[in-house]
Amino acid sequence: MSQLYLTFAAMEELVKKIEDYRKEINAFNVSGNDTAESFRIKYLGTKGLIKSVMTEIKNVPVENKKAFGQIINDLKLFAENKYEELKSAEENKRLGHHTGDVISDIDLTLPADKLPLGSRHPISLVRNKIVSIFQRLGFAVAEGPEIEDDWHNFTALNISENHPARDMQDTFYVSHPGGGADWMLRTHTSSVQVREMEKGKLPIRIICPGRVYRNETISARAHCFFHQVEGLYIAENVSFADLKQTLYFFVQEMFGDTVKIRFRPSYFPFTEPSAEMDISCLICGGKGCNVCKHTGWVEILGCGMAHPKILENCNIDSNKYSGFAFGMGIERITMLKYQIKDLRLFSENDLRFLKQFTSAV
Ligand code: PHE
Repeated sequence: MSQLYLTFAAMEELVKKIEDYRKEINAFNVSGNDTAESFRIKYLGTKGLIKSVMTEIKNVPVENKKAFGQIINDLKLFAENKYEELKSAEENKRLGHHTGDVISDIDLTLPADKLPLGSRHPISLVRNKIVSIFQRLGFAVAEGPEIEDDWHNFTALNISENHPARDMQDTFYVSHPGGGADWMLRTHTSSVQVREMEKGKLPIRIICPGRVYRNETISARAHCFFHQVEGLYIAENVSFADLKQTLYFFVQEMFGDTVKIRFRPSYFPFTEPSAEMDISCLICGGKGCNVCKHTGWVEILGCGMAHPKILENCNIDSNKYSGFAFGMGIERITMLKYQIKDLRLFSENDLRFLKQFTSAV
C-alpha cells in the first residue's frame, strides 16, 4: 500500500497549527478552570494536542520529516516548561504569596520547627520535690547570702572561734574590702536559719535550700560545693517526736512508704540532743549490698533539737520556745534516688547525663 503523504498545503496548515498552539501555550494563565492540570491534559496528555500533531509526522514526506520532528519537539519542550511554570504559580497562589519578581518559599501554613527544649538539672528536680514536700507541712522557703560573716555561719550557731567543730567544715575564707571580720563562703545553710531567728517573728517554720561550699578535694564522693536543704521549726512545746514524724513523712514522700528510718546519736554544736538519720537501703531493701556497705542502712541527714544557746544568741526565750533543726545534702538524696555513683557528674554539664532527667521526680 502506498503511503499518502501530506500535500504541501496540508503541511503549511500543520505548521500554522503548531505556531497557533505555541501562541496559545504562551498566553495560558492559571485562573478559574484553567489549571496547570487542565493545561497538561490539553497539550501534554496522551490524547493531547501535541500528541495529535506528532501522529501527523508519519504523513510528512521523508525529506521533511526531520524538520517537522524538530518543530514538534520544540513545541513539546516549550509546553513542558510552561507546565512547570504554571504549577509553581499555582503553589504560590495556594500559599497566598504574591506572584511577582520575588517568590517566597516560606510556607506559613506548615507547623513550626521544633525548638530544642532543655531539661531541669537533677539537683533542681530533687530540690523542688524536697521543697514541695515540706511546703505541704507548712514550711516556708527562706534564702540568704552565699557569702557570710563569721557570726551567722559559726558563732551564733555555738561554734566559737576555737571550737573543734570548725574543723568539721573546711572553710573558704574571703577577704573583706574593708578588712575587719572574717567573711567566708557559707559552709551550710544554717546561716539562713540564724538570720530568720534574728528577725524575731515566732513561730518559725522554714526550709533553707541553697548552695554551700567546703574546701574539699574533688572526688566521686566529695566536692568543694554542693547543695543543702536545712529545716528549722521553732514554737512552743516542740518535741523530738515532732522531728521524727516530720522526717518520717518526708522520707515516705521522697522514697516511698516501704522505706524505714532510724536515728543514731550524733554531735552538732547547734543541736542537743543531736542525731543522724539513716534510711533502709533502697537497693537491697535492708538485706545488705555494696551501696549500704552491707549494713542495710544509708545515712541521709543530720538533725536535733535546737540548742538553747543558739535560741538565746538570737534573742529567743529558750524557756518558752523549743525547736528542731535538720539538714541534708541534695546531691546525696539525688544519688540515692537515681543511683548515681559519682558526685562530679552533677557539675560537669555533660548533656548525655543531663538529658536523662526530663520529668518531675
Ligand atoms: N548544718 C549541718 C551540716 O551542714 C546539718 C544540720 C542541720 C545538722 C541542722 C543538724 C541540724 O552538716
